[in-house]
Amino acid sequence: MNSTKLWDKGFEPDKMIEEYTVGDDRALDMRLARYDVEGSLAHIAMLHSIGLLTADELALLTDGLRQIATEIEAGEFEIEPGTEDVHSQVELLLTRRLGDAGKKIHSGRSRNDQVLVDLKLFLRDELRQIADDVRTLFDRLQELSERYREVLMPGYTHLQIAMPSSFGLWFGAYAETLVDDMRLLTAAWHIANQNPLGSAAGYGSSFPLDRTMTTRLLGFEELHYNVVAAQMSRGKSERAAAAAIAAVAATVGRLAMDVCLMMSQNFGFVSLPDELTTGSSIMPHKKNPDVFEIMRGRCNRLQSIPNEIALLTTNLPVGYHRDLQLLKDILFPATSELRRTLRMGDFMLAHLRVNDRILDDAKYDYLFTVEDVNRLALQGVPFREAYRRVGQAVQRGEYRPTREVHHTHEGSIGNLCTDRIRRKMERAMAEFE
Ligand code: ARG
Repeated sequence: MNSTKLWDKGFEPDKMIEEYTVGDDRALDMRLARYDVEGSLAHIAMLHSIGLLTADELALLTDGLRQIATEIEAGEFEIEPGTEDVHSQVELLLTRRLGDAGKKIHSGRSRNDQVLVDLKLFLRDELRQIADDVRTLFDRLQELSERYREVLMPGYTHLQIAMPSSFGLWFGAYAETLVDDMRLLTAAWHIANQNPLGSAAGYGSSFPLDRTMTTRLLGFEELHYNVVAAQMSRGKSERAAAAAIAAVAATVGRLAMDVCLMMSQNFGFVSLPDELTTGSSIMPHKKNPDVFEIMRGRCNRLQSIPNEIALLTTNLPVGYHRDLQLLKDILFPATSELRRTLRMGDFMLAHLRVNDRILDDAKYDYLFTVEDVNRLALQGVPFREAYRRVGQAVQRGEYRPTREVHHTHEGSIGNLCTDRIRRKMERAMAEFE
C-alpha cells in the first residue's frame, strides 16, 4: 500500500471518486500553501507549550516547516498527484523528512480548522491588497477630478439632458463611492481576522489547547471562541468578502459602462489614445473600447459571486461539509480578477482624454434652464413663476441660455470637497491598523 492519504485505512478508494472529490483543489490550494505553513508553525509552538511536543521535536518541526516555506517561496513546492490537498502534502513532507516528529504535528487539529486558518489568513491578505488597489484607483480619480474641475459636461436624468455636470464631479463621484466600498472591505477584513484554530473538526479537542496563544502568534485580532461558530464561519467569511468584492465591482463596472457610452461618437465626451483601443476585422476605421467592455463584463460577473456562495452554503446544517471546499473555486479566481481589473482601470484612466468643449454644441442648451430659473428666483421672482417663464420660453423656441454655472455648496461643481472625501477614505482605511 503506498497511499499518501492521511486517512488511509488500508484500502484504495476508487480513482474516479478521488478525482471527483479533489476537483481543482490541488491547484487552488497552492495559494494557501504559505498560510498552511504559518498556521502549522503557530500550532506546534502551542503544542510544545502544553507539553505535547518536546523542545527537540519543536525545533525539528520548526526547521522542517521553514524549509517547506522556503521551497514554496522558491516555487519548488508541489502537491503531488495522489495527495489530496496542501495540508496532506505538508504533513507528508514532514513525515518523510523527519519521521516520527512529523507524525505528531496533527495532534489537536483537523484539516477542517487547518483549512479555516489558511483561508482566514489568505482572506486577510487578499482583502488588504484589494483595498490598496482600490486606494490607488481612488487617488487617480481624485487627481482627475481636480485636474478637470472646470470642464463641464452634460448631466442626465432618464438619459435625457438635465443639468450641467462636470468631469470634476464625475471622477470625484466614483472616488467617493469607493469609500463606501472600502467600508465593506474593512468589515470583511475584521470578519476574516478571527482565529478558528483549535476548533479542530468543528467541536474542539480534549487536549488543553492554548488558543489565545495561537491567536497572538498568528496576529489575529480576536479568537473565534465557540468552536461550532468557528466552523460555521467557513462560507460566512467568504460571503462577507464576496459582498465587498461585488461592491467594488459594481462601482468599477458602472464607471466602465460610462466610459463606453461617453466614447461613442454620439457622445464624444472622452477618447483614448489609439494604442489603447482595439480594431475590427472588417471595418477599417474602428477604434473600440474593448478594455472597458471586458472590464464591465468582468465586474458584472464578479457581482454574481455573493449569490453563488449563498446558493452553495444555504441550508447546510451546522458542522463541516465537503461542499465547503467548492468555496475556493468561486472566491479564489474572483480576488485575482478584481485586482487585475482595478489595476487596469487605473492604467486606462491615466490615459483617458477629456473633451473640454462638449457644451459648445447647441443641443446642450437646455442644460441651463434651471440655472436661469434660479437666477430669476435670486432676483426675487417666486420660484414657480420663474419656472413658468423659462418653461414658456423653451416652449416657444425662444430660450437662450446664459451659460453661467455658479454652484457653491458642498459637493457641487464649484466646491468638490476633494480633501474632505480623502479624509473620509483615510478614516475608513484606518480600520486596517
Ligand atoms: N479540501 C478540504 C476542504 O477544503 C480540506 C478539509 C477536508 N476535510 C475533510 N474532513 N474531508 O474542505
